[in-house]
Amino acid sequence: MAGNITFTMIKPTAYKNGHAGKIIDQILGAGFTFKAMKQVHLTAEQAGQFYAVHKARPFYGELVEFMSSGPIIAAVLEKDNAVEDYRTFIGATNPAEAAEGTIRKQFATSIGENAVHGSDSDENAWIEANFFFSNFEMV
Ligand code: RTP
Ligand code: MG
Repeated sequence: MAGNITFTMIKPTAYKNGHAGKIIDQILGAGFTFKAMKQVHLTAEQAGQFYAVHKARPFYGELVEFMSSGPIIAAVLEKDNAVEDYRTFIGATNPAEAAEGTIRKQFATSIGENAVHGSDSDENAWIEANFFFSNFEMV
């Protein structure tokens, strides 16, 4: 059964370029509701822990450096079929391949600096949500 939460981050470049408000507005317009949201500046250690699954990949170092380079917005979103619908809504990892109208098509500047994160499974959505938020912070 498809779950109903996903976890997202507005990544440093999108945040720095002033796109957070527009992205949040589009998330709401697409029918997601916010269970939790906060602004944080990850340390390299925290970013490395969050993306530990990619440790062996060639882009890991760059990804950790980027994700700890400035403030981000982290959020837990709720909607039927949240994980799959959110990944469709944000578009392909590489903005050159992202569909017209998606968040990454509009706001990503490269494959690495691709505006937003979206969980890839229901299980990971909960792991990622719990990485950033306590039960008490998710309403
Ligand atoms: P995300 O986890 O951020 O939602 O992205 P994703 O599932 O679409 O892509 P994933 O394969 O999980 O990769 C995680 C993030 O690593 C960066 N990346 N850089 N330089 C590269 O070739 C490369 N490939 C991936 C991106 O920031 C990607 O979102
Ligand atoms: Mg991923």
